[in-house]
Amino acid sequence: MNQQAFPATTTAPDPSARLVLPDGRDVLLPILRGTEGEPAFDITRLREQTGSITFDEGYANTGSCQSNVTYIDGEKGILRYRGYPIEQLAEHSHFVETAYLVIYGELPTRPQRARFSALLTENAHIHERMVYLFESYPRDAHPMALLGAMVNALACYYPHLATNTHFGETDNFDEAAATLISKVRTITAMAYRMSKGLPVIYPKRSLNYCENFLHMMFSDPYEHFECPPVVSRALNLILLLHADHEQNCSTSTVRMVASSGANLFASAASGVCALWGPFHGGANQAVIEMLQAIHDDKDDGTRFVAEAKVGRRRLMGFGHRIYRNYDPRAKIIGKACEELLNELGVKDPLLDIARRLESIALSDPYFVDRKLYPNVDFYSGIILRAIGIPINMFTVMFAIGRMPGWVAHWREVAFAGRPRIYRPRQIYTGPSVRDYLPVDLRE
Ligand code: ACO
Repeated sequence: MNQQAFPATTTAPDPSARLVLPDGRDVLLPILRGTEGEPAFDITRLREQTGSITFDEGYANTGSCQSNVTYIDGEKGILRYRGYPIEQLAEHSHFVETAYLVIYGELPTRPQRARFSALLTENAHIHERMVYLFESYPRDAHPMALLGAMVNALACYYPHLATNTHFGETDNFDEAAATLISKVRTITAMAYRMSKGLPVIYPKRSLNYCENFLHMMFSDPYEHFECPPVVSRALNLILLLHADHEQNCSTSTVRMVASSGANLFASAASGVCALWGPFHGGANQAVIEMLQAIHDDKDDGTRFVAEAKVGRRRLMGFGHRIYRNYDPRAKIIGKACEELLNELGVKDPLLDIARRLESIALSDPYFVDRKLYPNVDFYSGIILRAIGIPINMFTVMFAIGRMPGWVAHWREVAFAGRPRIYRPRQIYTGPSVRDYLPVDLRE
């Protein structure tokens, strides 16, 4: 697969930022600039020079790495994968092509795209013995718990692809990446079928990525599920829009695990676990639960928003650490949601509630002042619901979409020229040194 050399971030020798210490000493901090000119103070030698560390709980002001994959300008609502605006990719590309772009850095040529698709097809099946693993989990296990376990288990069944790294690019990266991206879809569909006590449906070579997933979910042994093109298009769009989002919680987790030299499957499994929480990928499930509760309470959204403003609730699918403007993915998904429901002739009352909540929140000073806008999760759940994906699988769908991003970031870390384990510091706030007390002397 093609490798692309990107211009390295420049360290401008001048000007540097000047930090004045309490003892009057000056320290010069080099200024790094990204491709788009965004500045960062380089503090890599700060502790050595001053004895101090920086404190930034939640990392809101900390660049943890240099990365070529995704650019976001949260103030302007810009998102680009490898330089390509998300709006253009959403309109012209599809998930598999975008996955290639995210992982390898360039849009594939026709032969490259065909080879990547073929690799996905070849690797769609899971090891037959893995099916027994599903059997040993409770039927009602949460799909994210299962997904995390199964992605990690890939290292057991495909050990030749699970090489712990840090010794340069391995020969089988392409196969490992395709295995993960393809099998995660089979694992998800299989988990769903087994949770329902339905026979497992195997992937078909003739179907594309999204059609194959929907076939494994909804076909039965006697009848193939004829997927309406509008449905596979909508799924494609959702996956494409989730393909990467730079240093979010799960991707940073993947990079953190990768930095120890852990293999791709172990690192991706850690991403699944981090994604599960409702402040992150779990928000798409939480949004539908919130909309349903508002609907059941016969609230028009006003009461819920009032409670969110006094901190008793959180308007799920709203707000973002980076976007202080409309999340560009939410704009695209909101429109696609409307189109899908129209084409399917579905009338979903939750969409009306979502639209109402959005208009109340966007004209309320509480949300306006805090720059809280709908994020990607606000409408994605309504699309997934219309497609027939059960609500407890929504975050799994996010994980399928995010896999290319995790693979790309794992690759950046694992094959970095100068591997370095991620190891932040802390400010210790516990007790100072004290002597051990025998148990009889403790009160
Ligand atoms: N509803 C109501 N108030 C909110 C919301 C919300 N969704 N989000 C933030 N706020 C308020 C906070 O209470 C806080 O108010 P204060 O200044 O009066 O204390 C202020 O806005 C800033 O909020 P923070 O929590 O500091 O913002 P942060 O950047 O840390 O959090 C987050 C971002 C976690 C996404 C938050 O906005 C949130 O919880 N949103 C709902 C969950 C959600 O949709 N998550 C998905 C994010 S996108 C993704 O991961 C795919």
